[in-house]
Amino acid sequence: MKRKLVWIMTMVLLVGVLAACGARSSGSSDEGGEGSGEDKIVVKFSHVVAENTPKGQAAQKFEKLAEEYTDGKVDVQVFPNSQLYTDDEVLSAIQQNNVQLAAPATSKVSKLFPEWQIFDFPFAFPDTKAVQEAMESEEIGGKLFSMLKEEELLGLSMWDNGFKQMTLDSHPLIKPEDFEGEKFRVMSSKVLEAQFDAVEANPTPMPFSEVYSALEQGVINGQENTLSNIYSKKFHEVQDYMTISNHGYLGYAVITNDEFWNGLPEDVRKNMKKALDETTKWVRENGQRLNDENLEKIKEDDTLKEIHELTDEEKQAWIEAMNPVYEQFEDEVGSDLIDAVKDLRE
Ligand code: LMR
Repeated sequence: MKRKLVWIMTMVLLVGVLAACGARSSGSSDEGGEGSGEDKIVVKFSHVVAENTPKGQAAQKFEKLAEEYTDGKVDVQVFPNSQLYTDDEVLSAIQQNNVQLAAPATSKVSKLFPEWQIFDFPFAFPDTKAVQEAMESEEIGGKLFSMLKEEELLGLSMWDNGFKQMTLDSHPLIKPEDFEGEKFRVMSSKVLEAQFDAVEANPTPMPFSEVYSALEQGVINGQENTLSNIYSKKFHEVQDYMTISNHGYLGYAVITNDEFWNGLPEDVRKNMKKALDETTKWVRENGQRLNDENLEKIKEDDTLKEIHELTDEEKQAWIEAMNPVYEQFEDEVGSDLIDAVKDLRE
């Protein structure tokens, strides 16, 4: 009898503990609690890159600012390096409110909305300022952000990483013919696949978390990414050649769950937005610097056989070879968006 009583009491205690843990899990909130211990609003932020990258640092900065500006009412928990989800999984995790924030590359948002592939066109943007202008315009940014709501998502901001460079295992990539027959990893975007098809390479879509071992094992021969992603994930240690081509932009859509965000107490939402705006400003000012520093670190490591910087003439040959991609995607991405980007460039 006594044993049974102890067992019942243990179970009651266990259920109590589990219930308390549940209340503290993703996105839970208790508006009555002014940030005291258990009542905090937990905001899980999942991303795939290393901490010493523009997105990794921005996420940490946001965590610090959001907790400070809300007087500790929110507890931002950052999960880097695909610890929680790959970018291909994270959008549905947000829709289900399993995580509250993510910043997938725009190419990955295109799985739900093909229009987001607009950022993947080769040589579409001369610099990050042009991307920022595009995102601030109604025809491009306004249109792209408003469609997210159809899927219970809410776009809060755009964060830059920077421009992508090419790497390969066997020879320098200088002329379009140098791509022929080589297997390149791409993010999940048809435009990126078409970019490599245009130079007769073989594009292979793959999550970011698998790229290093695929390069190491020769499953793929090359890849495209920013210098900060190449350096922080050590791709330069398993590749021999890199071309500084700046041929494509890589940036992020900072996304939350629409219902979660609009259900936040107004002061919390306002202060989280303030933290986010400040973080966005910081990434805009520091993303390029981090990428530049990473180029120097890659050079210092001295693991590559050659780093080639495309000349204007070589770049022109790449532009011409990859140009058919624009026409190919007029229907899927939309000629209005493509024209808006071309107008902006001109
Ligand atoms: C990639 O998959 O290459 C990038 O999206 C990684 C990132 O988030 O910067």
